[in-house]
Amino acid sequence: MGKDVIIACDFDSAQKTLDFLDKFKGKKPFVKIGMELYYAAGPSIVKAIKERGHKIFLDLKLHDIPNTVKKAMTVLSELGVDMCNVHAAGTKRMMSAAIEGLTRPDGTRPLLIAVTQLTSTDEQTMHDDLLIGEPLDKVVMHYARNAMDAGLDGVVCSPLEAGKVHGVCSDKFVTVTPGIRFAGGDVGDQKRVTTPQMAKELGSDYIVVGRPITAAEDPVAAYERCVAEFVG
Ligand code: C5P
Repeated sequence: MGKDVIIACDFDSAQKTLDFLDKFKGKKPFVKIGMELYYAAGPSIVKAIKERGHKIFLDLKLHDIPNTVKKAMTVLSELGVDMCNVHAAGTKRMMSAAIEGLTRPDGTRPLLIAVTQLTSTDEQTMHDDLLIGEPLDKVVMHYARNAMDAGLDGVVCSPLEAGKVHGVCSDKFVTVTPGIRFAGGDVGDQKRVTTPQMAKELGSDYIVVGRPITAAEDPVAAYERCVAEFVG
């Protein structure tokens, strides 16, 4: 699995996003489009970024009945994105349906990864609100196994969980890991953070980096620092 740095383009308009990407001149970083940008700018922002030659992770975290997810995934696959995702909580049947919907007539499809438990959900909240009584770590690994059994390519997780996910699933099972900060950088609202270098050592396949790049004085230099530390 080729390691790469994915920039989380958490902007609220197409213009801000394209202005940001203009700074990269000839470079074509892998970008993540999340709900904020997609709901603000629609499928046309996906096409615009694709036409500029970037790889795209469309982070919409689908979770609905299998038939609805399957049909939605067919629409998303036609956008030509490289990676998209679902909530593993939607069940193995929903995840299998997502794969079916995502597979294009020529047999190709974007990578499909699963969100296990959101990093904003701690063990106490999972027990109290979701009535899931097992330890958080066990739930995350169980959901990762479900995703693998359903034919998905990997999960979103913390770099701190990447090694265990590879152990429980396989080394080929992709770990996409947010929560990245430079040594001494502003942590913001992330709880458990690792540096790009640590994420590499812990076995992450892709790191997702937002504000350390988007809010940097020199975003291109910050991106290059991530690539140098993570990809080497
Ligand atoms: O700015 P920052 O580097 O914290 O951005 C991380 C990105 O990864 C954001 O787009 C956030 O929504 C996403 N993400 C996350 N934790 C998860 C899943 C996604 O931080 N568990």
